[in-house]
Parts: sequence; C-alpha cells; structure tokens
Amino acid sequence: MCQTLSISGYVSLIPSAGVFAAYMLLAASQFPAGLSRFFPRLSTAKSHDLFRMSVGKEQHHVIAVETNADNDDDMAQLSLGKLSLNLTTSQCQLESIKRLHDSLDPEKDYLERSACQTAAGRALWNHVIHDPLAEVFAGDVFLRRLLEKVQRDLEKKGRETAGVMMAVRTLWFDARLAEALARFNITTGHQVVLLGAGMDARAYRLPILNNCSVFEVDSAKALHLKESILQAMVEAGERLPALQAESLNRVAADIATDDWFEKLKVAGFEVHLPTVWILEGLLYYLQDVCAMETLKFIAQNCMNETVVLADFMNESSTHLAHELKTHFYFHSDWPEELLPNLGFSQVKVSQIGDPDANFGLINDELNLFHQIRRISRHVKADVDGKPYRRLLLVESWAS
Ligand SMILES: C[S@@+](CC[C@H](N)C(=O)[O-])C[C@H]1O[C@@H](n2cnc3c(N)ncnc32)[C@H](O)[C@@H]1O
Repeated sequence: MCQTLSISGYVSLIPSAGVFAAYMLLAASQFPAGLSRFFPRLSTAKSHDLFRMSVGKEQHHVIAVETNADNDDDMAQLSLGKLSLNLTTSQCQLESIKRLHDSLDPEKDYLERSACQTAAGRALWNHVIHDPLAEVFAGDVFLRRLLEKVQRDLEKKGRETAGVMMAVRTLWFDARLAEALARFNITTGHQVVLLGAGMDARAYRLPILNNCSVFEVDSAKALHLKESILQAMVEAGERLPALQAESLNRVAADIATDDWFEKLKVAGFEVHLPTVWILEGLLYYLQDVCAMETLKFIAQNCMNETVVLADFMNESSTHLAHELKTHFYFHSDWPEELLPNLGFSQVKVSQIGDPDANFGLINDELNLFHQIRRISRHVKADVDGKPYRRLLLVESWAS
C-alpha cells in the first residue's frame, strides 16, 4: 500500500529481536543480599538511555524479592513481589506450542519474534495487565530470556527497567482506548483496529470491547502463528479464554506492500463507524514514507470519529538499531507537529512516567523515565553528548 516500498524493501524492515529484549528489563531497586546466589553475574549499565537501566547507590523503590527456585540453575519459577512466572506449569510447555515457537527462524522471522517477545513482557506484568494468553503467545524461550534479563537487571540494582516501560505502554493504550470508547456516541457500533496486532490479546482481555468489532491486522505469518497457538491449545484440551469483544476478525496483510485497507473492509470494517486504531510497537518498523502514508490514509479515509493511539520513537532511539542489530526507520521527535499535517486535529503526547503514563509503576523519582521526561524535548543530549532516548505515547483524533 505504501507505494514507495517494494517487497524486498519490506524484507529489509525486519528487525532483530534485540530491541524487545532491551525493552524487557525489570524495575528493581533493591533486593536482599542472600538473593545474590541466584544472580551471580555483574555487568555495567549506561545512562540516559530509556532502553537500558540506570544504577544508583541510593535505593528508593523497593521490590520485595523472593524466589521459588530450588537451586541456582532453576529459573523456571520466579516471583519478584507481584511479578511472577511459573514456567513449569505454563501452557507454553505444551510440546505442540513449543514446536510452533521453535519454527520461527531467528534471522527471517524477526517481526513475529518481536511480537512474541512483547507478549513475554505482558506475561511478567500480568498482575496489572491480566492477559490470559500472554504466556502461551510468548512461548517458553522468550519467557526464559526475559527471566534472564530480569536476573541481569537485578544484579545491576537498577532503578527502572524497560519491562516496566512495556507494562506502562500497554496500560496507557488500554486507558486511552477506554476513554475514547466512552467518548463515542453510544448509539452506534464501535470498531477497534489493531494495526501490527502481533500477539495482542485485547479482544480476550478487555470487557470494554463488548460493544466493539475488533480487527487484528498483521502479516500472514504472524497471524498464522497466533491462530496455530490457539488451535494447539484447543487440541491439547486447554480451554481458551472467552472472547470479550463483540466480534474478532484477523486480517493478514503486509502494511507496507498490500492494500490492507481494502482487506480490512472485506473483513467487515466500516468506514462510517467510530474507530480506535491501535498502533502499538508498530510505526518504527515501517519506512518513513510508509508510516506517514499509513497515518494519513487512516485520517483521510475514516468518515466518523477516528482516534489513533501510537507510540513513536524519537530519532536517537532509532539509532539503537545498529547496536541492537535491528532495523528501525520511522521516528518523530515532534508528533504534535507532524500529525496535524497528516490530517489529525487533536494530538496529545505523553512520556513514560507522566501522570497519565505511570499507573503507580514508575515510583522512583530518580529513575531515567522521570529524569528524561522533565527535560525539554528540544534538548537532544546531556552535557557529555549522550542522547536522550524517548518513547512518545501519542493520542490523536481525526474526524
Ligand atoms: C513489536 S510487535 C507489537 C505487536 C503488538 N502490537 C503488541 O504490542 O503486542 C510489532 C508487530 O508489528 C507487525 N508488523 C511490523 N511491520 C509490519 C508490516 N509491514 N505489516 C504487517 N505487520 C507488521 C509485526 O509483525 C509485529 O507483530
């Protein structure tokens, strides 16, 4: 659909999974010395980088830590205050599910893998996100990697982690979605389109969608994996969570090369109904032109109230791509200036840690999220030249 991008161009968009590993850090400012036997390695941390953790001698945010591990090598069960995973009893241990996750090619299937890794973040923060499918969608390997990341973060005694960033991001999308639906005219039906849906399970976990038609758009491969996992659960005798949405349609399309909007309409999307669009973790995987055309297309082609929720990387965040062996393209330091030019009338930008993007999870006033959000976005780097990396949470209206 984005005319300038060829199929081979799209292949080059496929990112490494590294950024999601980098996201998945766990906030942990303090833990008992005795726990060090479970977390024996030490490493250093960089500052002024939202995708990494900061290290502080003062410890303000205490997370009570306990572990159920029987021995030092057993990380299958981990309980850190309210953060917990028990991999030994998880549905992701089903052989058929493991085979599906194992079928992903580490080189070629980076996008699908990123979707699973994002689900792993939700699995760890399930006490606030309540995602009944996060573990099984994430899969054993990605959950274990996340636990290893947690292990390393604990060793660093970080004030914040990207794990908490993932949780806050998801909760921010949930909150903005709920608010937008509440503002819509209740006499008409509503729609929610998840563009780059990946392993998103909102249709199963959000009762506020009971009056909504939900559409999940992603690559054929990602959606096939998702449906195969659900099918494998059924075949193994596991009960699927009840659908909360009024309806759910999956639309296989490459946003960069296919006429995804036409496919969406064929699947039942109606341009005249109020719609919330969720672009969570998507835009920076698209080339600049494609990302902007996609946003503009939504604004121009939807005839009723249209809300787009999206996260944007600022420019310096995309420079992490090389370090993380991934590919990021689109970025904007000023979505509030860009989006009106693409057809959006109201734009609100938030940052992790802001009052509407906190959810009681970013408590340490000295952590990087709070430090960076208080610095003007005009300031690109600190006095030593270290860039301020930001993830901007953006709500925009077009109608
Ligand atoms: C990091 S994941 C986020 C998934 C989901 N939104 C979430 O938050 O859990 C990015 C998703 O965007 C999808 N994606 C990226 N580029 C795409 C494209 N050109 N067409 C369709 N899907 C794309 C990937 O397949 C992947 O599922």
